[in-house]
Amino acid sequence: MLISFEGIDGCGKSTHIEKVKSYLTEKGYDVHVFREPGGTPVSEKIRDILLNSKDDIHPLAESLLFSAARAQLVATSIRPLLEKGAIVILDRFYDSTTAYQGYGRQVIPVPDIERLNALATQNLEPDLTIYLKIDPEMAYRRRLEVREEDRMERAGPAFFQRVSAGFDALAAREQRIVALDSSRSPEETFQAIIDHLEKKLPR
Ligand code: TYD
Repeated sequence: MLISFEGIDGCGKSTHIEKVKSYLTEKGYDVHVFREPGGTPVSEKIRDILLNSKDDIHPLAESLLFSAARAQLVATSIRPLLEKGAIVILDRFYDSTTAYQGYGRQVIPVPDIERLNALATQNLEPDLTIYLKIDPEMAYRRRLEVREEDRMERAGPAFFQRVSAGFDALAAREQRIVALDSSRSPEETFQAIIDHLEKKLPR
């Protein structure tokens, strides 16, 4: 089973992913978590270019780099684990490319990004996608409390408004995506995640 978590930077994904992992592990499932971009040695090198590079990266090159990192992760880690019956949790997957590179950057048309996503994943789709929805302003304030901004985060407020609208559009279109209000207390959000997850778990 493949579960992805999505949302703009500062939406609270990482906290919830850790808790979901513990919850499922305690129930006896074999659970693996990967973050994107990253999760394999090659993909982590690509991550470093994407998030720490001081050079400008053209939006097409950026889209291809995120996709290259993903192709490596899917082929070498995710597919083999799914074939063994594991539960794989992803901290971002291709919806992020659609939202950030497609809706956010506004250079490569969204349908082209979606073709690229299908190629990079060889049509692998999540069984469930949890989209943690939060106001971009609030997310920005949460981020500043935690750490310095990376290359993507420096793109500015208008960019994050477009990314957020992109995730909303995807959630409205895709049945597998569940949009959950992440401005509530972490406990309430976590309970909502578990409620949706329980409906999908393999028995
Ligand atoms: P990360 O520090 O992992 O952020 P977060 O904890 O919010 O996930 O950085 C990942 C950054 O890369 C984040 O700004 C979102 C961006 N991103 C894309 O633009 N496209 C993608 O396809 C992916 C996977 C991430």
